[in-house]
Amino acid sequence: MDDLPPKDLFLQSVARCTASAAFIPAFYDRFTSASDEIRAKFRFTDFEQQNKALKRSLEMCAFAIAGTPEALAELTARAKTHDRDHLNIEPRFYDIWVDTIIETAAEYDDQWSDAIEAAWRRVLSHVVKHMIRKY
Ligand code: HEM
Repeated sequence: MDDLPPKDLFLQSVARCTASAAFIPAFYDRFTSASDEIRAKFRFTDFEQQNKALKRSLEMCAFAIAGTPEALAELTARAKTHDRDHLNIEPRFYDIWVDTIIETAAEYDDQWSDAIEAAWRRVLSHVVKHMIRKY
């Protein structure tokens, strides 16, 4: 299974993680505990909506790396909501985002392996690069 392309390893892992309704809340818990600045960014957030949005968005990440036009359009829209004129998510926050989501996935994916971790890093670094370029 580990010889599947990163996009597929990532998508299958996301599906195993999100099969548990606790996965995304566990990620936001970890992420917002990482710094007071991050916690402050989410002070007005409706986490019920946010959890759904992030689940969809993770799937978008996989299709964006594969070049699917709808996913690229979605990625561009996310980059805009996160840029300096909107949510103002400074580039330095993205490494924490990637590390905490991968730490959480490692706990929730019962088939976790080095190849799966590498797939998460590959897909997310592609997306993050795009978000930072458009900041
Ligand atoms: C590639 C990484 C990321 C993805 C895919 C992502 C995805 C999303 C999505 C889908 C939404 C909801 C729709 C929207 O407002 O755009 C959202 C909102 C948000 N994101 Fe991100 N995000 C990422 C990184 C970050 C980082 C690093 C931060 C740093 C604090 C952050 C903070 C926020 C905040 C504050 C909101 C608004 C929540 C609200 O409505 O109150 N995001 N994100």
